[in-house]
Amino acid sequence: MCGIVGYIGTRAASGILIEGLKTLEYRGYDSAGVATISEGTLQRTRAKGKLINLQTKLEGLEDPARLGIGHTRWATHGKPEEHNAHPHTDESERLAVVQNGIIENYRELREELKEKGYTFCSDTDTEVIPHLIDEYLKNPAPEAVLSAQSALLEAVRQAVNRLRGAFALAIVSVDFPDELIVVRQQAPLAIGFGQGEFFCASDTPAIMPYTQAVLTLENGEIARLTPMGVEVYEFSGHRLKKYPRTLNWNPIMVEKQGFKHFMLKEIYEQPGVVRTCLETYLDTDWDVSSGESPIKLDLPDALLDGLQHVQILACGTSWHASLVGKYLLEQVAGIPTFVQYASEFRYAPAPLMPNTMTIGVTQSGETADTLAALEMEQNRRTEQGGDYAPRMLGITNRVDSSLGRLIPDVVGTMAGIEIGVAATKTFVAQLMAFYFLSLELAYRRKAISLERMAEIIEGLRQLPAQLEQVLEAQERYVEELSHDFSETQDFIFIGRGINYPIALEGALKLKEISYIHAEGYPAGEMKHGPIALLDEKVPVVAIATRGTVYEKVLSNAQEAKARDAQLIGVVPMNDAEAEETFDSLLPVPDVDELLSPMLTVIPVQLLSYHIAARRGLDVDQPRNLAKSVTVE
Ligand code: M6R
Repeated sequence: MCGIVGYIGTRAASGILIEGLKTLEYRGYDSAGVATISEGTLQRTRAKGKLINLQTKLEGLEDPARLGIGHTRWATHGKPEEHNAHPHTDESERLAVVQNGIIENYRELREELKEKGYTFCSDTDTEVIPHLIDEYLKNPAPEAVLSAQSALLEAVRQAVNRLRGAFALAIVSVDFPDELIVVRQQAPLAIGFGQGEFFCASDTPAIMPYTQAVLTLENGEIARLTPMGVEVYEFSGHRLKKYPRTLNWNPIMVEKQGFKHFMLKEIYEQPGVVRTCLETYLDTDWDVSSGESPIKLDLPDALLDGLQHVQILACGTSWHASLVGKYLLEQVAGIPTFVQYASEFRYAPAPLMPNTMTIGVTQSGETADTLAALEMEQNRRTEQGGDYAPRMLGITNRVDSSLGRLIPDVVGTMAGIEIGVAATKTFVAQLMAFYFLSLELAYRRKAISLERMAEIIEGLRQLPAQLEQVLEAQERYVEELSHDFSETQDFIFIGRGINYPIALEGALKLKEISYIHAEGYPAGEMKHGPIALLDEKVPVVAIATRGTVYEKVLSNAQEAKARDAQLIGVVPMNDAEAEETFDSLLPVPDVDELLSPMLTVIPVQLLSYHIAARRGLDVDQPRNLAKSVTVE
């Protein structure tokens, strides 16, 4: 969380910083700020709230600076007030720092610095950093190794060696007007290489409009950017040889293209995302009589063969996708599968099971808990070795992320950049990855017949058109339906089997963008407690598609109706029984039960979106949230 940007070169820095921050605002929007250096002065401007407040403050200000840093904040330590906004400076206001992450030992450093006479004017963990750098500039530690290159670089090196936690930093100083120092330790940081100009940012889209030559720093690295080039060092001071790589990117992907919100645009992109996944991972010429696998995941045999278990680590919506994945891996490929919250697993891992594939699922590839849990698992399995040796797989929308560097085998979900904080298209893309993976494993293990496989594949091929059909049929109706619920305070979502995760996802979507309290339950669990919540003020959304549990879910819905709950059904099209049961119908094509989550998720996404939009809320940037959760 938090986005940082930096620029050094020949153009006016301030505009470039603001444009970069616009792209990074998904990482936090509690406050924003920039600091630039020119003609021996540091100019710092900060504003509480969204970036637009900072832009308003900067309007009309002439700033010739060619060097600067910027920040958009998701508050961790200290309220979202201007005095806590980054950049933070040293006492003389000659040096400025922006940070993404958390400094865990900031209290002890603060005390140490206070004893030396430093005063603090914010409640943040970050403010220790400029003071610490200042201290090392004034009193370099005896083991200085980089002073010949730059006193600022060496002071930063000494300071970061004192910090514990996860952080990415960008630092500028009036006394070093040709240097931008950046640091990475467990929080992402990329450097862009232009012609006589260099950029840094927490995420590559902030750099891409200027250059596609990008170097991603690794943990424990510091870089010194000057108009002459980029030098990269380890925290020890050892110099590294590193070269940028070229990224492919299409700027059109981050435009709203006429939609009111990115979230709505991304909901509508889902048929296209599924098409791309099918084109990428399915052999279009596959014929059941070939006896070959139809799946083109290109994963090594050593990862997939002889598996006894799968464990999946994820957070939030990715965790919900993983629950669908568990269903598929167990029911299609016949492999016992365990899904864990990464944030729980990292402090209470299950005892090691042999021949286990560990899958990390993360849209951003930057979620701190997921990365830490995966790293821990990789390490403990490497130590154990033999049948317990790590078999790791990543499923992510950002193969160029930290996940992509941590894990050698990654399935890219091909959804394109997702801007709305609420995940939509990346969720269906994660489900597609699980369909392909479970089919590939089913093929290798002969868990289902090739004929059954052909049936599922044919069903997958129909999905883009069916998704379009649902979107077209429901958009207007769901918008109208949402009027009835704009004042509602509680919602219940129920589902069973492969659609239980869709109930969870529906509740999460509604909570995060409309701020309405919502719970998702396995429908059969309602009578064990949650049914006590129901009355005429609590609507129930039931995901009831034909298959093993259809009649059961209808009965559970009837039980809610008997308690006066208003019933909304995500149901098969043209189903008389459903028409009798529910007050409002959100019909989806009647497909193979295994494929149904791909369609049932659409109405719950639309319902959440329209309720939030109706309430006049900031759908794309809901309060207190950030798209990329890079702190614990
Ligand atoms: O990038 P990740 O998939 O690892 O993110 C995990 C969660 O933070 C994310 O899914 C979050 O729950 C979304 N806001 C859901 O819409």
